[in-house]
Amino acid sequence: LDNGLLKTPPMGWLAWERFRCNINCQDDPQNCISEQLFMEMADRLAQDGWRDLGYKYLNIDDCWIGGRDNQGNLVADPKRFPNGIPFLADYAHSLGLKLGIYADLGNFTCMGYPGTTLDKVVQDAQTFATWQVDMLKLDGCYSTSLERAHGYPKMAAALNATGHPIAFSCSWPAYEGGLPPKVNYTTLAKTCNLWRNYEDIQDSWSSMLNILDWFVSHQDVLQPVAGPGHWNDPDMLLIGNFGLSFEQAQSQMALWTVLAAPLFMSTDLRTISARNMDILQNPLMIKIHQDPLGIQGRRILKEKSQIEVYLRPLSNKASALVFFSRRMDIPYHYQSSLANLSYSSTYIYEVQNVYTGETISGLRAYTNFTVVINPSGVVMWYVYPTKNPNTSWL
Ligand code: DGJ
Repeated sequence: LDNGLLKTPPMGWLAWERFRCNINCQDDPQNCISEQLFMEMADRLAQDGWRDLGYKYLNIDDCWIGGRDNQGNLVADPKRFPNGIPFLADYAHSLGLKLGIYADLGNFTCMGYPGTTLDKVVQDAQTFATWQVDMLKLDGCYSTSLERAHGYPKMAAALNATGHPIAFSCSWPAYEGGLPPKVNYTTLAKTCNLWRNYEDIQDSWSSMLNILDWFVSHQDVLQPVAGPGHWNDPDMLLIGNFGLSFEQAQSQMALWTVLAAPLFMSTDLRTISARNMDILQNPLMIKIHQDPLGIQGRRILKEKSQIEVYLRPLSNKASALVFFSRRMDIPYHYQSSLANLSYSSTYIYEVQNVYTGETISGLRAYTNFTVVINPSGVVMWYVYPTKNPNTSWL
């Protein structure tokens, strides 16, 4: 969507995967969907280094709505959000953060709260703008295909008409099976800043792999439609939760980064471990993720050895490589060369290992190298050309 927003994929925190629709503030006051939860996450984002690295969005998901007032305006649940959403938006802004909100284009949200039917689209867009909200995720439960075909573009226009910059996250394609001809990615890129193509992520490795496999098997369709202002969204990061091992957490971070996916954490930032923070706060990883060219990477190789190689082109002729192991035995010694991975022999390359910081200097395209990849883990490289090889002796 050409609204000047999200020229690089967004980074932040989104409540859903970790906190779901827990509205039991009586028994679980620390974890229920409430003003307090969002304020505490805002504090962590601002104080623990997240915001300064780019994790700026603090996004509310389902289960915040209390109903509509007598003018039909959405209102937050008064018990759980006693000061209302404008207060939370102010709070986020005072900390240098942005606030995202959630609505559903249909009769109800997926969890049964009041929806944004077609006749409410303009009114709700105005409400969000008045509240100074910075992003809207528009879900698609309880709507028909036809309603979605009208409603998503209608919301895009309504948000634009408010004059307040609001990034627009659409769940539209996820409700149409994610693929052409039912999904028109040209229309989508004009309508939304990001879109959920596929299923919800759950807190498990198999769920993450299922999503990855779907994105990879359709990369010829999906990869070209991503770019500055319009991104594919394979859903939230699971890092810090219960389902991924340390290696798997590193893998999700590396893979989502090469896929130029939005990086929405959905974990308890109050208790996240130092190791998981290191994965999420790796400065070189974030630099790669935020590369201004905004090219989505692709899987370029799938070996019989169950090693896969992903490549994302970056600005200044740099690139990111991810060597991903689907093996379940022991660390695998994978041998290749940059020439094998389609790099030109016009250059000599510098390599930085994104997780370990190790460097390789003066790597020639035809020189073999070996990377050791742990089971369900990755080795990730940042590669950039230095000088042309001296070929005068030839
Ligand atoms: C379905 C979406 O895909 C999820 O991300 C989440 O927003 C839930 N609905 C909320 O009900």
